[in-house]
Amino acid sequence: MVETIQWIDDAVVMIDQTRLPLEERYVTCRTYVEVAAAIRGMVIRGAPAIGVAAAMGVALGVLRAGEMDLDHQMEAICATLAATRPTAVNLFWAIDRMKQLYLSLRGRPIAEIRRRLVAEAILVREEDIAICRAIGRNGAPLVPDAKTVLTHCNAGALATAGYGTALGVIRAAIEGGKRVDVFADETRPFLQGARLTVWELQQDGIPTTLITDNMAGHFMKSGRIGCVVVGADRIAANGDVANKVGTYSVAVLAKENGVPFFVAAPISTLDLTLASGELIPIEQRAASEVTHVFGHPVAPAETVVQNPAFDVTPARYVSAIITEKGVACAPYEESLRALVG
Ligand code: MRU
Repeated sequence: MVETIQWIDDAVVMIDQTRLPLEERYVTCRTYVEVAAAIRGMVIRGAPAIGVAAAMGVALGVLRAGEMDLDHQMEAICATLAATRPTAVNLFWAIDRMKQLYLSLRGRPIAEIRRRLVAEAILVREEDIAICRAIGRNGAPLVPDAKTVLTHCNAGALATAGYGTALGVIRAAIEGGKRVDVFADETRPFLQGARLTVWELQQDGIPTTLITDNMAGHFMKSGRIGCVVVGADRIAANGDVANKVGTYSVAVLAKENGVPFFVAAPISTLDLTLASGELIPIEQRAASEVTHVFGHPVAPAETVVQNPAFDVTPARYVSAIITEKGVACAPYEESLRALVG
């Protein structure tokens, strides 16, 4: 399995997802500022992976911080990491987890604080892999046998510490003996589907076909697609799901064609403080992601661009939300709260 992010020799090593699949290159971050830049620049991306990176970023920050005024330094570290990307709630969940531990260690020797924060960040990574495997186990029974699964963006090992959420469900279905192949939406504008999902599934020998985003309806109508499985960046209390832009269109097409639409995500992606998806902050990214492909312009200079990185799929389009603690169905206000316990 591909290693997305690791803690090695007091540094954070990430596979560079801006280079894949053309180049398999690793980036080493030695400061929290470098981790923040890697998250913002999409060297690492995908909600759970961003959470792991943030936890490791906090640990790196405290490891390199001076002993004086540690509280203020901790605040600056957390604020810098929190300002990287607004939509994936896992980022804030991980920073908060590290902050709570730090607060519980106040007054302890700095060497102990550093050691405990590093251990916690490593634990966040290990737990994420275990969580993805549990999501896979819970979701596999929902995947129809001998059909194609359509997915959007990359919600795989590359978007997590390993195994993946949506791709974890597909992996678990195949490990359980189901004969499944995958249709990967290319996922304009950043091409996570074409560049990352296809590459990742090829590493595992899972049969994968790349389609452009606007082909999804055609194939759903054909009857070939047994279900859609996608990941999520933030899920509101009512079951509305923020995920990579284009997910909403896929969900509407799925409902129209009677194809089940599943969302696979860890409990840390739930944001039950938000009543609905309307309240989820949507990241706007650079115009150049739309006007250029791999640095080459594909639109006239001065083109006016919109580039929301995510959209919100209303809960009524979501057949089920698959988490490590079980599968939630509508009404989500009740089922999600029950899962969180
Ligand atoms: O902009 P990205 O690549 O970080 O967006 C990623 C997604 O939208 C994923 O589907 C989501 O984070 C779930 S990853 C398990």
